[in-house]
Amino acid sequence: MKINGREYRSLWQDRDNILFIDQRKLPFSFEIFTARTVKDVAFAIKEMVVRGAPAIGAAAAYGMALGEKNPKQSAKLLRLTRPTAYDLFYAVDYMIQAIDQTKNVFDAASTYVETIISHCKNIGEHGESLIKDNMTILTHCNAGALATVDYGTALAPLRNVHKKKKKIFVFTDETRPRLQGLLTAWELSQEGIPHALIPDNAAGYYMRKKEVDIVIVGADRIAVNGDFANKIGTYEKAVCAKENNIPFYVAAPQSTFDPQIKTGSQIIIEERTKQEVTEIQGKAIMPEWVMVKNPAFDITPSKYVTGYITEKGILKK
Ligand code: MRU
Repeated sequence: MKINGREYRSLWQDRDNILFIDQRKLPFSFEIFTARTVKDVAFAIKEMVVRGAPAIGAAAAYGMALGEKNPKQSAKLLRLTRPTAYDLFYAVDYMIQAIDQTKNVFDAASTYVETIISHCKNIGEHGESLIKDNMTILTHCNAGALATVDYGTALAPLRNVHKKKKKIFVFTDETRPRLQGLLTAWELSQEGIPHALIPDNAAGYYMRKKEVDIVIVGADRIAVNGDFANKIGTYEKAVCAKENNIPFYVAAPQSTFDPQIKTGSQIIIEERTKQEVTEIQGKAIMPEWVMVKNPAFDITPSKYVTGYITEKGILKK
């Protein structure tokens, strides 16, 4: 991804360290977080220095490499960081196998990461066909390069068509409470893609006015029947899209498809802190006494999904 004209990934290896663009600080300041141990990587995942399912998987792969001397303990530590994104568990399992079979675990981790990146690139190529000139696309949360190491899932096709000079416009839901939509707006502005950030509750308004042609979102875990977990608020966008006859696509690589989970009801939904809702950038926006519930994801039944944009092509349910 381009940041101020320079190519970056959301995380990368630098000798014995793993460096992350600190997503807690974006877009107000651009800072790099350094992880030297598997514990540092676990902290980065839990505290959302790095976020987005494929990027969490990539971080976990490097975390396993840093903690190679004690693979069981490293795996346990990493698996306890966040429960919903399947990529995390997929990457840990991949690395457990690799540690048994390879001499250089950092090579194995970097193979994992390069594969994720190339899958996102392929998602971009397959998704292009869905986007015609002058279309308006609605997306939720951030399924861009930040969330996937590079290219993105939902944003990958948009990057491609923009490069090919198709005219598009993107609505990005702000995505309360953590405002990942602001990260999407930041990525789009770095690429020069025309867009507007909208309050989460404005999406239905624009869909009903026929100002949205297609909805494309990412996913955190996809069940065998096609139900999927994604950032809280996705379900209502899908229902609204169906009501207004707007095609609704999910973009995700193989590492997000969980073969053990048959339906969405089996997916564990992460509950996060009260502070995520009552504060923004550490500043209180609500009084202390407010009681809060903060589920980080919801489940969208497969009946709302028009198709799944994967590295292998566009799949129907
Ligand atoms: O809690 P987050 O920010 O890690 O949530 C994950 C996401 O970024 C989204 O749900 C996204 O759409 C799927 S990951 C490309």
